[in-house]
Amino acid sequence: NTIFRGKDFITLEEWTKEEIDTLLEVSKDLKKDFAMGKTTPYLPYQTVFLMFFEQSTRTRNSMEAGITQLGGHAHFLDTSTMQVSHGEVAKDTAVILSRMGHAIACRNCFWGIGNAYLRDMAKYSSVPILNLQDDLFHPMQGLADLMTIQEKRGGDVRNLKVSIIWAYATTHKKPISVPLTQSLLFPRYGMDVTLAYPEGYELPDWVVEQAKKHAESTGGSFRITHDQEDAYKDADVVFPKNWGSWFKNPSTEVVDAGLEANKGWKCTEERFALTNKDCLYMHALPADRQNEVDASVIDGPNSAIYDEAENRLHTAKSVMALTMGGRGRQ
Ligand code: CP
Repeated sequence: NTIFRGKDFITLEEWTKEEIDTLLEVSKDLKKDFAMGKTTPYLPYQTVFLMFFEQSTRTRNSMEAGITQLGGHAHFLDTSTMQVSHGEVAKDTAVILSRMGHAIACRNCFWGIGNAYLRDMAKYSSVPILNLQDDLFHPMQGLADLMTIQEKRGGDVRNLKVSIIWAYATTHKKPISVPLTQSLLFPRYGMDVTLAYPEGYELPDWVVEQAKKHAESTGGSFRITHDQEDAYKDADVVFPKNWGSWFKNPSTEVVDAGLEANKGWKCTEERFALTNKDCLYMHALPADRQNEVDASVIDGPNSAIYDEAENRLHTAKSVMALTMGGRGRQ
């Protein structure tokens, strides 16, 4: 399949629903092949550069293991050891890496340069730019989340009640890429989406407008609440996250007012009991079992966290297999 060759994967908003469906179909095929021990050497001798400005467990390892399974090679780049840390411009990095390999992937959610850096690289790169999470989007995560919901709910996810329950600290640079990506993606699949957050922690207006537009066109819905119980009640899938809990480490230098103010935004056993019987508990991870979620929920029978994380591997392979595959952009 050559139709995606050279296409950037920066936001799923730039992929049509049919294209996303293809990504998901290929992900599911690759997952089956992996389970059967079948080799999938679709990218022999190809190199993906992985530029990481921040830490990662799932994203880095899904890309590294993924490209190995496709017959290629991942070149991990800790950006503190690159000249970008001395201010080398995106153009020079993009042109040079694209003359040496077949894709450039980058994570830079908190670095300040975010999506604009990826866009700048995309302007000059002759190979696809793959977003491993920036300040706005985490498309790899969104794709794996959608795949997991489809697997668990038998494919048809229309009018499934999905609640994205979100609290984060305004004192920190805002890590909004996961709820933002989910808010834009799920309504495109006709889901009934509830976005819940403490007042004052809004996603940008354009995200809400776009999410509502998507919902209108698919027969789904998108609404906002500031009441946690309301978000949990009768939900089929919940994604509760409270980033505040991650900034308690004094070594991060972050004094987090949001941590104290929003510590009540926790997925407790009592709140989870308000959901529908087979409700999925999902989380992009990492998760904090003390401040963010009760262990009985995240380690309980409704938790899909490990399947969700496992699917990061197969969706990453699908993105690489379809976008790399050859030199030269569309
Ligand atoms: N979900 C996710 O992106 O995890 P990592 O930060 O470990 O890559």
